[in-house]
Amino acid sequence: MKVLITQSALDGRTDELASEINATYGEEPVVLLCVLKGAYIFAADLARRLTCPVVVDFIQVSSYGDSTVSSGVVQLKRDHDVNIEGRHTLVVEDIVDSGLTLEHLLAMLRTRRPRSLRTVAMLSKARARGFEAPLDWVGFEIENQFVVGYGLDHAENYRNLPYIGLMEE
Ligand code: IMP
Repeated sequence: MKVLITQSALDGRTDELASEINATYGEEPVVLLCVLKGAYIFAADLARRLTCPVVVDFIQVSSYGDSTVSSGVVQLKRDHDVNIEGRHTLVVEDIVDSGLTLEHLLAMLRTRRPRSLRTVAMLSKARARGFEAPLDWVGFEIENQFVVGYGLDHAENYRNLPYIGLMEE
């Protein structure tokens, strides 16, 4: 496995994102919606750096199965429990690739009328693919390549790696 983003780079960038997010919300309470499974480590690291009152909930969508290429079909596998109506809501994503997952998710969440709806992703391939994702905060822009670790999997493996890695062919 080739290391693309080290553990200390992930830590440092999460510190920076958290201070921007803290500045945005101040003392206002926020619902953190962690998109399972890939964002579980990032969401846990980010949540512990937030200084506003935080409620954590989870949502799960699947679009890939065991493939490394998006099927184009976004399926809601688990909905959140907490009511987000009238509340600041921050969607925590692992990685944006085609942007399809996030687009579907945001369209669905908007119908639930949160007070505000913002998004943070640790990684994005959007620019490399030639578009801007609807993200308020991005950890790292990466090339259009398949990465694993820090929550991200390939066929459910490698999620526990403490860094972002590139699988060797
Ligand atoms: P999108 O809908 O094409 O933006 O895909 C987003 C989802 O696909 C992410 O939430 C990940 O679960 C998965 N994904 C996209 N690229 C990668 C990757 O390089 N490694 C692991 N999972 C990925």
